[in-house]
Amino acid sequence: MTLQFNDETFRDDYSFHNSERAIKRFPFPFHEDSYMYSVNMEQHRGGPADSVYEKRFDVDEHYVAEMRDRALVLADDPLRCQSLPHMTLAGWDLLELIMVSKSEDYPDLFELHRDGNNWRWINKPLGIDDSFVFLDETTLPYGPMEYITRQTQGDFCVLDQRDDNLWMDAGIVTTQADWSLDFDIGMNFFEWHAPVPLAHEKGIFVRALKFLLNIQQGAPARRLNWTMTVNPLLDTSPENYHKWGVQKTTLTPENIGAKQHLRVELQTFFRLPRSNALVFPIRCYLCSFQDLMTVPKWGRRLHRVVRDLPEELATYKGFIDNRPMMLDYLSDFDDGLPTSAGI
Ligand code: HEM
Repeated sequence: MTLQFNDETFRDDYSFHNSERAIKRFPFPFHEDSYMYSVNMEQHRGGPADSVYEKRFDVDEHYVAEMRDRALVLADDPLRCQSLPHMTLAGWDLLELIMVSKSEDYPDLFELHRDGNNWRWINKPLGIDDSFVFLDETTLPYGPMEYITRQTQGDFCVLDQRDDNLWMDAGIVTTQADWSLDFDIGMNFFEWHAPVPLAHEKGIFVRALKFLLNIQQGAPARRLNWTMTVNPLLDTSPENYHKWGVQKTTLTPENIGAKQHLRVELQTFFRLPRSNALVFPIRCYLCSFQDLMTVPKWGRRLHRVVRDLPEELATYKGFIDNRPMMLDYLSDFDDGLPTSAGI
């Protein structure tokens, strides 16, 4: 189908909105009435037609607006994009992966023409038509990772693999759930996960790392993660906490349906060919409570999950203070029926 791109913002007047189609394909993350961390990994081999899992890199109605927002964040804070010197080859690997995937998966939007190392990339939604020499940095306006991820929704961490661990040695992070690339750069898998409650003692990170170290080229994996955000903000970074943290206090029983958003991350994992690095795209999907409630089984289930979530998780995810107001709102949509009962 032909995509219409929304003219919308993720700041100031918050004109972000989801169409009916976007709500229908929203990756609601709960497969039961309660939630606890787990090693919820599966193969990323596509999915139902028009679902967010169908393509390797989902492009949706928010694409152009998200790229505009990323450019604003980077103009304000260039440290949101960093690549240690040994990661440039991985950046080229990533550029190739995204250009090949997008041009194959969305031929009406993206074209890649290759003649040896002379490449031409056409990105119609963003009005880009660039020719460059693959593996020659001087022929692009940015480094290869930055060039292609300024044109791709979601944050990206590019992990070097050595000493049986993964190291956050490159990334572009402008749409994150309250963590900082500048703080985490150079850290390993256990170090950057240190703040997460309850998961270390359950052995989740040891098992997850084992899985990730063994991901092979051509066999990507995925998982979902979620949190809550007041207002449809993409940039909920520690760097800008002074701007968005206070917005959590603006929630009222009257505006909660429109302002409170469930924030879901579709996280994927791809092995890169030349560098053997692992790339970790984190794609953020936002949906307001009032839009979620248009699907009755989501309303019922979200109420139960939020109600029964351990205090440590509600605190870590930053909504412990607003939880009672959320529950007041959500309980109206929970009729007590089993959520397995279809609609
Ligand atoms: C949170 C990065 C893979 C489980 C986080 C955080 C970062 C991160 C930066 C935020 C930590 C903070 O509070 O500062 C990554 C990267 C990965 C990766 C780069 C890929 C190499 C995984 C995997 C799992 C996992 C495979 C589990 C199967 C979690 C959990 C949280 C978390 C449970 C807490 C999220 C929440 O409650 O919202 N991760 N992660 N991560 N990560 Fe990962």
